[in-house]
Amino acid sequence: MIEDVIDKSPRIETERLVLRRWEPRDLEGLVQMNADPQVMEFFPAVMSRQDSERMFERLMAKQVKYGFGTPVVEERASGRFLGLCGLGVPTYPEPLPFDPCVEIGWRFIPGAWGRGIAQEASRIWLRFGFETLRLDEIVSFTSAINQRSEKVMQRLGMVRDASADFDHPLIDEGHPLRRHVLYRLSRESFREQVHG
Ligand SMILES: CC(C)(COP(=O)(O)OP(=O)(O)OC[C@H]1O[C@@H](n2cnc3c(N)ncnc32)[C@H](O)[C@@H]1OP(=O)(O)O)[C@@H](O)C(=O)NCCC(=O)NCCS
Repeated sequence: MIEDVIDKSPRIETERLVLRRWEPRDLEGLVQMNADPQVMEFFPAVMSRQDSERMFERLMAKQVKYGFGTPVVEERASGRFLGLCGLGVPTYPEPLPFDPCVEIGWRFIPGAWGRGIAQEASRIWLRFGFETLRLDEIVSFTSAINQRSEKVMQRLGMVRDASADFDHPLIDEGHPLRRHVLYRLSRESFREQVHG
């Protein structure tokens, strides 16, 4: 089947970025990023080395199972780990109300914020998801108070589905981060945005 021969995490280079699959050398960058309180402001807590090691294992396993697992973004000139951004399949112990889905997500070190890097990488993966993988829809979600992340969704032309706001299954009841907003983008809307 054609599905089996498509590389779903191809290496893509732009003038300033390298987008690529996870490799063992990325663990250290992930550990440092996840331990930074500024990065983790809208997550329940910063992550310990052990938490990040587990996350790394999950990302590697998703790469094998689905072909993609929210890939790495690296600074092209220096090879520095900037963060993760791209397509992924959420796998929580409980299903999300809009499962099954492919999401687009992002997390960057603060030095990569405010430079349009999340948008640049996301646009590439949206195009890849719709035009190469022929996905019908890509969603994105974030805590309702994470305005910086929501703005990325809006800049990408994603549309909020307020009827699908939900409580995140991994966040305790009453926690200010529990309520999440859902944004959607269909292949058709993406095509109209890109090609008019
Ligand atoms: C959420 C996050 C990815 C947003 O990053 P970001 O850099 O603000 O996102 P964008 O790529 O859309 O960049 C937009 C900013 O870059 C600026 N910019 C500079 N050059 C640019 C360019 N060439 N193109 C576009 N924007 C550019 C814009 O003006 C804007 O700045 P502003 O926020 O001061 O208005 C980042 O804050 C982050 O990693 N946060 C921590 C993790 C997190 O919360 N993840 C989401 C969980 S759901």
